[in-house]
Amino acid sequence: MRSTPDKATDFEKTSKPALGPEHRRSFVIKAIALACGAIATLSPFAAGVWTYLDPLRRQSKASTFIRVVSLGSIPDDGIPRLFPIVSDRLDAWTGFPSEPIGAVYLSREKGSPQVKALSAICPHAGCFVDISAPSDCFRCPCHNSSFTLSGAMIQPSPSPREMDALDCQIDESGQVLVKWENFYTGIATKVPRA
Ligand code: FES
Repeated sequence: MRSTPDKATDFEKTSKPALGPEHRRSFVIKAIALACGAIATLSPFAAGVWTYLDPLRRQSKASTFIRVVSLGSIPDDGIPRLFPIVSDRLDAWTGFPSEPIGAVYLSREKGSPQVKALSAICPHAGCFVDISAPSDCFRCPCHNSSFTLSGAMIQPSPSPREMDALDCQIDESGQVLVKWENFYTGIATKVPRA
C-alpha cells in the first residue's frame, strides 16, 4: 500500500497542464491572430479620428500674412488708423469666407514707406483698444489701460505689457500685408496662441 505523500506527488504530476511544443505553438498562433484582429479593428478608427481632427490641425498653422489696405490709404502723419483684418475663417469644421477676424492700427511717418502695425486687442484682457481724441494716445475702455501712439504703456497700467506689434510687409503692388496673430492676454510676455 502506497503512503499519502506519494499519492499527493502523483496528483501534482497528473494535475499540471501539459506545456509541450504543440501547446506553445497554439498559444503563439492565437496571440498573433488576436493582435492582427486588434490592428484591423483599430486602424479604421484611428484614421477616422485623424481625419475628424484635421481642421484643428490645419487651424494651428493659421498665422499668415493678410492683405489689409494699400500703402497710399495710410496717411503719413504718424497717427495710427484702424483697419479691419478680413480673411476666410475656419471655425474647426465650418468655413466662413471673407469675415472680419480682427483689427489693426497702421501708421507711418512723413514720407516713409515703413508701416508700423499694432494689434487692436488689449494685452490686459482682450478688449478692443480705442484711439482717444484728439489722437494723443490709445485707451482701453475696459480697465483704463493707456498706451502711447507707438504702443508703449502709460503708467499706471493694468496691462502687463505694451500693445502687441505685428509683422507687416508691402507687396509689389503696394498692398500692406499684416501677419495676423492672437497673443495670450494678462501676461508680461508676448506669446502667440497656437
Ligand atoms: S482689457 Fe484693456 S485694460 Fe483691461
